[in-house]
Amino acid sequence: MEKVFYVTTPIYYVNAEPHIGHAYTTILADFVHRLHLTLGYDSFFLTGTDEHGDKIATAAEAGKMTPQDYADKISGKFKSAWDDININYSDFIRTTEPRHKKVVQDILQKVYDKGDIYFGSYGGNYCVGCERFLTEKEIVDGKCPEHNKEPQFIEEKNYFFKMSKYQDWLLDHINKNPEFIRPERYKNEVLSMLKGDALEDLCISRPVSRLTWGIPLPFDENFVTYVWFDALINYVSAIGYPDDSKYKKYWPAVQHIIAKDILKPHGIFWPTMLKAADIDPYMNLNVHGYWNMDEAKMSKSLGNVVTPHDLVSKYGNDQIRYFFLKEMTFGLDARFNEDLIIDRINYDLANDLGNLINRTFNMAGKYFESKIPEAGEDKAGRDELLAGFKKASDSYVDYCCKFQTSIGLEKLWEFIRSLNKYVDETKPWQLAKESNMDKLSSVIRNLLESIYSVAVLLSPVLINISPEIIASLNGEKSATDIDSLNSLNNLKTGETLKELGILFPKLEKVKAEAKSEPVKEKKTDTEGLIDISDFGKVDIRVALVVEAEKVDGSDKLLYLTVDSGSDTRQIVAGIAQVYAPEDIKGKKILLVSNLKPAVIFGKESRGMLLAAKKSSKDKPQVIFADETVPVGARLG
Ligand code: MSP
Repeated sequence: MEKVFYVTTPIYYVNAEPHIGHAYTTILADFVHRLHLTLGYDSFFLTGTDEHGDKIATAAEAGKMTPQDYADKISGKFKSAWDDININYSDFIRTTEPRHKKVVQDILQKVYDKGDIYFGSYGGNYCVGCERFLTEKEIVDGKCPEHNKEPQFIEEKNYFFKMSKYQDWLLDHINKNPEFIRPERYKNEVLSMLKGDALEDLCISRPVSRLTWGIPLPFDENFVTYVWFDALINYVSAIGYPDDSKYKKYWPAVQHIIAKDILKPHGIFWPTMLKAADIDPYMNLNVHGYWNMDEAKMSKSLGNVVTPHDLVSKYGNDQIRYFFLKEMTFGLDARFNEDLIIDRINYDLANDLGNLINRTFNMAGKYFESKIPEAGEDKAGRDELLAGFKKASDSYVDYCCKFQTSIGLEKLWEFIRSLNKYVDETKPWQLAKESNMDKLSSVIRNLLESIYSVAVLLSPVLINISPEIIASLNGEKSATDIDSLNSLNNLKTGETLKELGILFPKLEKVKAEAKSEPVKEKKTDTEGLIDISDFGKVDIRVALVVEAEKVDGSDKLLYLTVDSGSDTRQIVAGIAQVYAPEDIKGKKILLVSNLKPAVIFGKESRGMLLAAKKSSKDKPQVIFADETVPVGARLG
């Protein structure tokens, strides 16, 4: 079977300039596209801009421009923002392009001819921000919770799409394809929209008396197409529906990526539209959370914007890509602040990866005049390394292909950290002292091969630095199959290593001044009591359990992957006699996050969860945090 892959971002509205929320989705799509190219897929990556509708018409008017000039200007800014950060899209669709308008009109006509579009009258609460009518349930305290604005009541005659006709089909399709919308929480959200009341039919037109900025309905020139019915069709118009070879090749092998704000149009409108137009449903809808700055959502209407350009010029493109992909647990909201970026750069990139490469290259320089040595007779733990790399690369690819990049990268980093440990344990400097050149050659060769394979796997993330590492090893730029990487046997003996500078310079955080007043000590008996500063040493955080599994060979231990708010890590917890993995997955726990790592039953544990028991005979009860406490919140 031919390996094809098609990934899309939402097409962004041109009423706002690109910010890091847009950049995240686009970088994620760019990453999975490049990963599939690296794995030998024929991959297509689509992004673009959504240019019709009330919102754009109003913004253009405010800027005293025609809607088309305005759309040209902002669409151009999106394009140049993506060029700035080397986004490798295959196509950029604009909904004002003739190729798109034609497909929208063809599909409208097809659905109309089938009898699934009718003329009727409707009154409802319209939110301009969402560009759609809200249901009663969606309105909170009289306002749209997404935009914090009162919707307008609008009543008019319009065309409607018989969405309700496809309600049962969609319910059934989702139940039969549990991964159709993922992660599960968003599938459940869509299911609950479908299971409640009957789905309302979708109003798909706007009278030209109120709005002219849209695609005319092919069967009534007094109306233009509702912007969502127009925009969603970009995913097929861009690849030339219905006859183009691209459409035939890539549809329906499509992975849509969106954030949770536009779940309903993608989870309900789009699949029912496709069904009505006799087009196969998309493969998966992948939904991520929001980046929150200082607990508030970041968006233009809240005046809370950081530009991708600023961020990348300050920290570097590869560093920002790594941060985004590592920091956000797919499906959950994540915190955004610069200290977190600095942590990821200093700990993961500089300490773990940079340090490994640096010390390996230094040793190759010192002991082998920077020439790649032939492995010796003594394999120096090669079998364990092979197994370790295979496990890491399999998990990395599996998780990343499901968009769970934070877990995928963590699995790869476990291997990178194990390589640093390998250096500490094999002690090449000792081998050199003992003139054990046989084992020393194997150790250095094993390390260089491992660095090469890691660099290839990371080339979709570290798009500038990985090629530098690969070039300095004189290695092939990419592996078309993962087996060749897994062989850890890709470099040429005797080739001279090229010098690499410091790949990831460490950064200092700008510290806020401590403002607290010293407290006057009261005269009390303080024996056995601790100072507040002692307590302050323990960093206890609210963490979310993302994965839970039993530890082989132990009936007491569970191995948990937790999101601590600033990283994703693994801990081992002695709670398996009381809790099954599914009892704890998805729950918020309290994590002692600054414990020194320990190895328990062969697994590294980076922290401890808090559990309580009255006496040593009792079973431990985990202290769960309330749903409303944010992940990463610190106790104290
Ligand atoms: N034009 C519609 C989409 C039509 S798709 C057929 C639209 N545009 S938008 O400009 O508002 O972009 C919304 C998308 O931008 C989100 O779904 C997400 O991909 C990205 N993000 C915007 N703000 C974000 C955050 N604060 N955090 C994460 N992603 C964010 O909706």
